[in-house]
Amino acid sequence: MRSLLPPGVTVVETYEDVLDPSPFPEEEEAVARAVEKRRREYATVRHCARRALAELGFAPVAILNGARREPLWPEGVLGSITHCDGYRAAALAREGTVASLGIDAEPHEVLSPGVLALVMRPEEHGHLARWAEERPGIAWDRVVFSAKESVYKAWFPLTRRWLDFEDATLHIDPWDGTFTAALHRPGPVVGGVRVSVMNGRWLVRDGLILTSVVVPAPCTTPDSEPAS
Ligand SMILES: CC(C)(COP(=O)(O)OP(=O)(O)OC[C@H]1O[C@@H](n2cnc3c(N)ncnc32)[C@H](O)[C@@H]1OP(=O)(O)O)[C@@H](O)C(=O)NCCC(=O)NCCS
Repeated sequence: MRSLLPPGVTVVETYEDVLDPSPFPEEEEAVARAVEKRRREYATVRHCARRALAELGFAPVAILNGARREPLWPEGVLGSITHCDGYRAAALAREGTVASLGIDAEPHEVLSPGVLALVMRPEEHGHLARWAEERPGIAWDRVVFSAKESVYKAWFPLTRRWLDFEDATLHIDPWDGTFTAALHRPGPVVGGVRVSVMNGRWLVRDGLILTSVVVPAPCTTPDSEPAS
């Protein structure tokens, strides 16, 4: 995941569960009734997140979830969390480094027909066929799914609103590991400019699909100040 994010974003990832030697009681309580698998991924990814916080110079804190399941970061920090079978990652940055970010990991497997129908806009079916012809051997439907989840994780902290899978059209470059998501809902305003497209990166390696989306921080050079 580190290679999918810009400098200034700290990524800590693991392929194995490393239970936090000092779990926070609030976190233990949050997953007390969850199955063992969920408790392990929850604790492990928070262990990753606290290592990332330490790298950024922040003290360890409990990382709970908000009303829409979003991770709640200490003041001055933003970030994103993902976990799937065999992989957990947290990507964090100091506020101001980027405006928002989202990360997602999925197994490199095709989607079931039911999920495929929920995730794709009509025009994206054509894109899938084109990418599969151009670069076979990649589960492009799952890459789109993961990319859209990264879009949502970057979108939500800026808008506090839901975004459906049909609310974005993905354009993936099958060779250079990048994608764009054209938003079909009014996007957040960042630095006085409405975000209508989000940019991301993707990678398929070791049976995993990894994606990231970064909304850049507003440019603060004098030249970029809006005219008064
Ligand atoms: C929230 C969602 C994206 C999580 O993705 P997932 O593949 O199920 O699970 P992941 O392991 O990758 O990510 C889970 C983490 O997402 C984070 N998350 C959950 N809700 C979130 C939100 N509203 N905003 C930001 N991050 C959120 C949490 O940190 C969670 O981990 P935690 O419960 O341990 O804290 C997904 O469940 C969902 O609701 N998707 C529908 C919305 C969507 O993707 N729209 C597409 C728009 S183009």
